[in-house]
Amino acid sequence: MKNTIRKAIIPAAGFGTRFLPAAKSQPKEMLPIVDTPTIQYVVEEAVAAGIRDILMVIGKSKRAIEEHFDRNFELEKELEEKGKVGDLAAIRHISSMANIHFVWQKELRGLGDAILCGRDHMGREPFAVLLGDTLIDAKTPVTKQLLAGYERYHESVCALEEVPREKVSRYGVIKGTRMQDGLYLVEDFVEKPSVAEAPSNLAIAGRYVFTPEIFDYIEKTTPGKNGEIQITDAMRLMVRDRAMYGLRFEGTRYDIGNKLDFLRTNIIYALKRKDLAKDLHAFLRQLVAEHK
Ligand code: UTP
Repeated sequence: MKNTIRKAIIPAAGFGTRFLPAAKSQPKEMLPIVDTPTIQYVVEEAVAAGIRDILMVIGKSKRAIEEHFDRNFELEKELEEKGKVGDLAAIRHISSMANIHFVWQKELRGLGDAILCGRDHMGREPFAVLLGDTLIDAKTPVTKQLLAGYERYHESVCALEEVPREKVSRYGVIKGTRMQDGLYLVEDFVEKPSVAEAPSNLAIAGRYVFTPEIFDYIEKTTPGKNGEIQITDAMRLMVRDRAMYGLRFEGTRYDIGNKLDFLRTNIIYALKRKDLAKDLHAFLRQLVAEHK
């Protein structure tokens, strides 16, 4: 049966070693962009694509994620008594926008293994995957774009970001054939190629739609670097047997687990905010002038 997509997995169990010491006792997915935790934007992206059933994969030191999506009656009462209607609505929205479930990845054995933790919950349905530490700023939410891509062929689709050629060796890129509407038929995935050998500059970007067969391929995937089961390796196996597509999206990707990206994202998102833009802009101009 060719189901539409109702469910998503958000992997958020990783150690976040690139964001220490902050990630030692708190999830990097809870790091705020302006005043909102990264993972809340990620959930909002899934909800904007019509997904209401979300499974978060978490691990040790990730309790704050559970609490953030739970109701906080004391806080609600306090806001109600003070007449802070806007804040109250915003707080209630966090826990009511989706049905959020949790599963624990008991050993951190990589992103492929984290996705495999969602097997029972996803059943035989196709599903979306959104990395909990990655934001994609786009006019049309990227998960919504991927769902439209899935509806066309009913096969797995991954988001592709166009990256500068000279930086291609930092990413996993595709070898593929261009179809239509930004879709590519993927022939292979190449991890961190040299500039000369790169088959494209289209990098896999932290958002996916998978048919349930991906779980069989993750199970067959042998652990790679650091004993981790990489989702890209499972995708390489799957693409040998069945069609898989990539979708080049319009938008910008931010990896919050990387310190420089985290700082940049905060500034970019703050400059979009009516309550902050003017003062922040003035401050940045002054700072640049002082450092010339
Ligand atoms: P990253 O590749 O950023 O891995 O994961 P990481 O281990 O958290 O980060 P560093 O490299 O140590 O700094 C991308 C997403 O996948 C999740 C992470 O929580 C993050 O949201 N993930 C990664 C898991 O859920 N389990 C894993 O075993 C690995």
